[in-house]
Amino acid sequence: MRKPVLAGNWKMNKTVAEAVALVAAMKDELGQLSSVERVLCPPFMAIPEVARLVAGTGVGVGAQDMYWKDGGAFTGEISPLMVKEFCSHVIIGHSERREHFGESDESVNLKLKAALAHGLFPIVCVGETLALRQEGRTEAWVAGQVKAALAGLSAEQVGRVVIAYEPIWAIGTGLAATAAEAQRVCKEVVRATVAELYGPAVAQGMRIQYGGSVTPANAPELMAQPDIDGALVGGASLKAADFVAIVRAAVQAK
Ligand code: PGA
Repeated sequence: MRKPVLAGNWKMNKTVAEAVALVAAMKDELGQLSSVERVLCPPFMAIPEVARLVAGTGVGVGAQDMYWKDGGAFTGEISPLMVKEFCSHVIIGHSERREHFGESDESVNLKLKAALAHGLFPIVCVGETLALRQEGRTEAWVAGQVKAALAGLSAEQVGRVVIAYEPIWAIGTGLAATAAEAQRVCKEVVRATVAELYGPAVAQGMRIQYGGSVTPANAPELMAQPDIDGALVGGASLKAADFVAIVRAAVQAK
């Protein structure tokens, strides 16, 4: 059975002081919901403090990005060695990185390989724009992103990867994909592409999240879908009660 993974992507929100308050408001409840994997992904500045606060609760910490080199003259970047000092997970290839910061399929693949080489659990994001969807290109686009991200990985490595299907038109818009459509893409595009590359056993073992305007209201139906193994949550992860409710919905649905 696949253990669902619920990750809160705080994006560029919360000072360290605000992060401490947010964690304090939810860590006891999150700690109890241990049948699913729970991960908080604060901004880099807050990571050490958040990691200290959740230590011993079973709640993991993830970075929102990282560079693929171990160190050197790369001003402004964060290396896998720095990330793994505090984090178990790392988000790679979020659509906002692809759109605003020049992240490419090639850099996603390099970062994914670096994350795996350092024992981190990567959460790789894929998803189509509204224009691609309207042109009927969703399936080919998402399958292409999955293939490019996983290029050169062994089946064993792929077993540690989480893929987040995040349609860009659903991110931060309040317009989540319907549960049926999210299920369809997760199963018939993402899981099917992994099966094509690595065979049915690896595909069945892969955890696939849905992301994009997940809320306490839509989480029960989304989390009940057989091929959706958790969620990558943005806006709602900034409110303790909402994130706890979403995690609880996953616990109850699975
Ligand atoms: P959202 O963001 O939940 O605010 O739509 C999701 C994400 O970008 O991971």
